[in-house]
Amino acid sequence: MEQFNRLQKENSAKGIKNNEHYIIPVVFHVIHEGGSENISFEQIEDQMRILNEDFARLNPDTFKTPSVFAEYAGDTNIEFRLAKIDPDGNCTQGITRTFSNLTNGARNNVKSLIQWNPEHYMNVWVVKTIEQFDPDGGIVLGFAQFPNQLFSDGETDGIVIRHDYCGSIETASSNYGRTLTHEAGHWLNLRHIWGDDDCGDDNIDDTPTGKEPNYGVCDSNGDAAGGDFPYTPFIGACSSSPGQIITQSSGEMFMNYMDYSDDFCMNMFSLGQGERMRSAITTYRNNLTTNANLIATGTNDDHVLVDCPPIADFNSNYSFGCKGDGFEFESNFYNAPVSSVTGYEWTFEGGTPSSSNDANPSVTYMQPGTYDVSLTVTNDAGSNTITKSNYVSISPANAEMTGPYFQNFETEGFPIYEDYPEANWMISGNVTDSWERVTNASSPNLSPIDNGENTASFRIRSLEFDDAGETHTLITPGIDLSDLDPPVRAYFDLAYAKRSGNTNDLLEVHVSDNCGRNWTRRWDRECNEDTDDLSTNGGGNIVFPYTPSSSHWEQQSVNINSFAGRSNVSLKFVFSGTGGIGCILITLLFVKLQTYP
Ligand code: ARG
Ligand code: ZN
Ligand code: CA
Repeated sequence: MEQFNRLQKENSAKGIKNNEHYIIPVVFHVIHEGGSENISFEQIEDQMRILNEDFARLNPDTFKTPSVFAEYAGDTNIEFRLAKIDPDGNCTQGITRTFSNLTNGARNNVKSLIQWNPEHYMNVWVVKTIEQFDPDGGIVLGFAQFPNQLFSDGETDGIVIRHDYCGSIETASSNYGRTLTHEAGHWLNLRHIWGDDDCGDDNIDDTPTGKEPNYGVCDSNGDAAGGDFPYTPFIGACSSSPGQIITQSSGEMFMNYMDYSDDFCMNMFSLGQGERMRSAITTYRNNLTTNANLIATGTNDDHVLVDCPPIADFNSNYSFGCKGDGFEFESNFYNAPVSSVTGYEWTFEGGTPSSSNDANPSVTYMQPGTYDVSLTVTNDAGSNTITKSNYVSISPANAEMTGPYFQNFETEGFPIYEDYPEANWMISGNVTDSWERVTNASSPNLSPIDNGENTASFRIRSLEFDDAGETHTLITPGIDLSDLDPPVRAYFDLAYAKRSGNTNDLLEVHVSDNCGRNWTRRWDRECNEDTDDLSTNGGGNIVFPYTPSSSHWEQQSVNINSFAGRSNVSLKFVFSGTGGIGCILITLLFVKLQTYP
């Protein structure tokens, strides 16, 4: 208490209103691929509860703070509230959801998928995994941007956190959920307690200077490992930083949220840290906490909570199948409570039934083709429709093509044969700016079968993609390999060149024997800052438009021995491209395919 008064005096002398209670509107952007990383509203609310308890020192484990430090621990007077009004003035639960494979190994790249103005909201992106920047470090649980970068790097302001470290329920792997507490500390200008250096300075007077990060230093009671507090290994190792109120001889403050202890070891911010965070708000983030902003984001005390209109979304257990296969669809709308929903309206192009009012209908597809699915979800506040184009791809159940199978791209209408749909290849994913037949380049006859002169090839360019990391797939019809014995390989000719050192492209070949319900990856090559085994031109950058010379063509082959003897085998070429920020890249790919013993 004495300490609190001392700081209060100091603060008012500096013009910092120590008793002011700051409220910060928050939005969570869940970046997902339809898996468990698409965490629930309840899990995010649970995270918000933990964040606010920790910042208010209302956490249940304050009794674990050693008595030498307890008097320096305190309420930060900073509170976080989920936004209730979005940047367009619409009703929101404070959560957006974006389908993207950038959720794997995420970096700042997820922030360009979606961000709300950081002068109005604290942005938190929830992802599956985070790229391990330091090869010697452990897994990264979260990362934040410091506030002094708000104006120069506003478009990356915010916090990225793994879904399994968000909150304490459902997919969360910890019962404590304190990664966001730590990252919000950084986002409000706190340094690590050891000053990121050997006995470094965190510029906080009431945190003792720390020698280095403390990992796994406490037992389940919060006691220092190997005995009671003080935690001794480093005592006396550091001389105090200027202005320190407590020195390291009191022990290291490993229970501070800004150390690297396990969540169950952490239980305090110091009063000085609270002061520094409030000062960061007034210096850098003042707009967030203004009354006008709280009203605009629906986070003011007087905001009247109402149900928002739902935002429609759905999932299914498969996206490919054979003629006659069944699919289970599942509505996973968000932005409104399930209990508020008054109706579901599905339409299934090409499906049986072709429409449904169930939340989770089952549908069978009887004809080969690629079909749209749409869902409208309604409650008293409104309704919303989502249509996913070419969401379901159905192949003939019995392969009409027999191996050895050979396909070139010479026919003008390729990949569609109006009179012989069993021979069609399928493009799925976004079909604009995707795989296309071109006649300006073709491979010189590299394949093991002499197929005469080629004039056409199939091309894709990640330069043209709307979104970084977009995925485009090209799927062969089912091929009957019943009469083939191993060895069996699938051959294709490849020419690829990259636009620049920022190009990040991946080509994979997968194989299926059940119309694509399950795929096995059998081949992949990539081009990125670490590896470039995809390029066939020696690795040089090329200028648009790219026409491969004959020496740029390489024959590739995929071992499909384990599919020999199977009656319905398809291959899938998957191309995904990322240009990084700025997205200036051109990549090209030309293929032809045959299976051959
Ligand atoms: N950025 C740090 C990391 O990813 C966060 C550590 C948070 N610590 C914790 N116990 N939750 O390692
Ligand atoms: Zn940190
Ligand atoms: Ca200190």
